[in-house]
Amino acid sequence: MKELLTEFKIANDAMFELLEKINRRPEPYEFYTTPDMWNDPYVSGQMLKYHLMEDVDLASRNMDFIDRSANWIINEFKIGNETSVCDFGCGPGLYTARFAGTGADVTGIDLSESSIEYALKESLRNDLPVNYVIANYLEYDTNKKFDLITLIFCDFCVLNPKQRDILLAKFVKLLQPNGKLLVDVSTHHYFYNVEPTYNYEYVKANGFWSAESHYVFNHTFKYDGKKLLLNKHAIIEKNRTREFFNWLKCYSLPELRDLFSRHGLEITNCFGNIAGDSLNDDSNEMAVIAEVKS
Ligand SMILES: C[S@@+](CC[C@H](N)C(=O)[O-])C[C@H]1O[C@@H](n2cnc3c(N)ncnc32)[C@H](O)[C@@H]1O
Repeated sequence: MKELLTEFKIANDAMFELLEKINRRPEPYEFYTTPDMWNDPYVSGQMLKYHLMEDVDLASRNMDFIDRSANWIINEFKIGNETSVCDFGCGPGLYTARFAGTGADVTGIDLSESSIEYALKESLRNDLPVNYVIANYLEYDTNKKFDLITLIFCDFCVLNPKQRDILLAKFVKLLQPNGKLLVDVSTHHYFYNVEPTYNYEYVKANGFWSAESHYVFNHTFKYDGKKLLLNKHAIIEKNRTREFFNWLKCYSLPELRDLFSRHGLEITNCFGNIAGDSLNDDSNEMAVIAEVKS
């Protein structure tokens, strides 16, 4: 008993310091780890499994919803062999493959190498050509212009204000004169229904975050004034600690209109999700169509 206490005492300062760090509420957008998370050699493989799960709304939405949503998008924007579409953050190509099925000229951009590798294999296997690009879409550039640009599954919400500005300016540059932008975001209604939480778990092996045994400290922080959420995960293994910060800025329609307008984009239609359902006060998500202001 005496020895055990001594051992604890030696590690005490370091442990307290680490726990303080792990439990600290960061400043809004203080850290950006999105690329690290989606490209982590182990986590990206786990993400790919979740993308492809039929009934799960993680990484990608469930397959029934994606079918319904892709069909709605194809009809709404009359996607066909004369349309050029670019899907930002296309993941393993669940939407791009469906768009390519119409004969459209489709580009998919994602920074996850394992997702694009899967998407490419599927595109060859099904003979549905898609121009896949492995890139951070904040840095992506091309001379091509698109009839439709999509950003699906609330990926706009993970960006900090500077990144949002970069991306909206990019959309304006890459849209054809009559081109359209389709983006979905989380709403204020969603924000109000999230509870701040914290917990930790011990995972012996082959968990979501690591193949090795590890502890995960999970936090959900809320930033009321900014309608900003943070899901933070600190993963502690024997020889390393990683932290991932998943920000989720929730929007009201007027706020989104104002932001888009400052970039020369006009929101011309809005829906309760990216499958075209109607928007109401209980909608957790909102999908908007925008065009460059004439
Ligand atoms: C939530 S998933 C959605 C995937 C896809 N849109 C869907 O609905 O099936 C977000 C995707 O965006 C990608 N992503 C996130 N930030 C990115 C960035 N800055 N540049 C390129 N891809 C990014 C991730 O790798 C991931 O595949």
